[in-house]
Amino acid sequence: MLNRFRTFYDSLDGGIVIHAVFKLVSYFMPLVLLFSGTSVAQLDYSDRLSEEDYVGLYEVYEDYFTIGSSVHARTLNNPDNVDFILKNFNALTYEYNLKLPAIHPSEDVWNFGPADQIADFAREHGLELRGHTLLWGSNWMLFDDNGDYVDKEVFYDRLYDYFSVIIPRYDDIIDVWDVVNEACHWTRDSRLHHDDLYEVCGYEYLEKAFLFAKEFVGPDDKLFLNENKVLNNKVKQDNIYDTLELLLENDIPIDGIGIQGHVQTLSFMETAKTLDNVLERFKQLGVEIHITELDMSAYTYADQEAFEELPTWIEQFQIKKYKSFFEVLRKHSDAVTNVTFWGINDANTHLSSSAGGREDWPLLFDKDSRPKQSYYAVCDF
Ligand code: GLA
Repeated sequence: MLNRFRTFYDSLDGGIVIHAVFKLVSYFMPLVLLFSGTSVAQLDYSDRLSEEDYVGLYEVYEDYFTIGSSVHARTLNNPDNVDFILKNFNALTYEYNLKLPAIHPSEDVWNFGPADQIADFAREHGLELRGHTLLWGSNWMLFDDNGDYVDKEVFYDRLYDYFSVIIPRYDDIIDVWDVVNEACHWTRDSRLHHDDLYEVCGYEYLEKAFLFAKEFVGPDDKLFLNENKVLNNKVKQDNIYDTLELLLENDIPIDGIGIQGHVQTLSFMETAKTLDNVLERFKQLGVEIHITELDMSAYTYADQEAFEELPTWIEQFQIKKYKSFFEVLRKHSDAVTNVTFWGINDANTHLSSSAGGREDWPLLFDKDSRPKQSYYAVCDF
């Protein structure tokens, strides 16, 4: 019984519980905010929205960490986006174009164009570039022509060959590689996800991936494990910690942990306090920490109905959460060396495309690339 409850508890991703109370809360929240006033009023930056100009985000954070954004190659085709990116970000990451299905969708097919375009842009403008991502879950390299698993040695050969092409091609400009994406599990059953990778290779694939990558990167390049759902699941935090510890004990070349940071504005688990605890804990391992995919959805659950605009009371929570997150990130800037947003502005967020076009407002800049109140909150220190 206890175990069942535990499994159920572990499977909560921060959305389920809140979804249950969301409707109830949403009826009363505007009233609560209206009458409670104080702390919310302190975070009212609306008078700044009319300012003509503002200081670019990366300049504001120059003394703390670099500030990045994910981009598609197509994002860079719009000249307005280019000016805006150069004003606010000094680092970029690949939103999709470097992933295996995009760049090497099958044994004989390579599609370098869009990934090259982003690399050239970073070279031209002197931006940092993150290699997201070399290995992520199930992929064609694990299967033969009949759809059966290959022997793990076949997989390792393919992986090695893949790295031998990709890494040297971009290594002059990419200085951080997300070698493996989303390996750790969120239940106590297992430290790693039991996905196809695990079925074929067991834990060993993780070590091999870092060892192979190390053969091709430059001496100063950083190798990262990048993980999702970190803030809303204590078991996941334990599994990441234990996995990192094991890799380090085994002298596997890993330099850092990426905390993705796709959070829900209203989640009571994904708080600044949790972030503080997680950073404090991971820091003890002596690894570098990056926030790699930050955004704050206005929704708590995927099937929730769409808002026509961002409700004011949710915006107030977002302002507050962004502000407190960045307070914590500044506090830990001895270990946190990069913070990257997933999308340049609210017009370029995966949250809308992944939810059938439903609008969301998860970033610091609005659809016209204008700073939102959350932006001013983050810069107010
Ligand atoms: C994960 C991946 C990202 C992106 C998002 C989309 O976080 O690491 O590359 O695909 O999912 O939700």
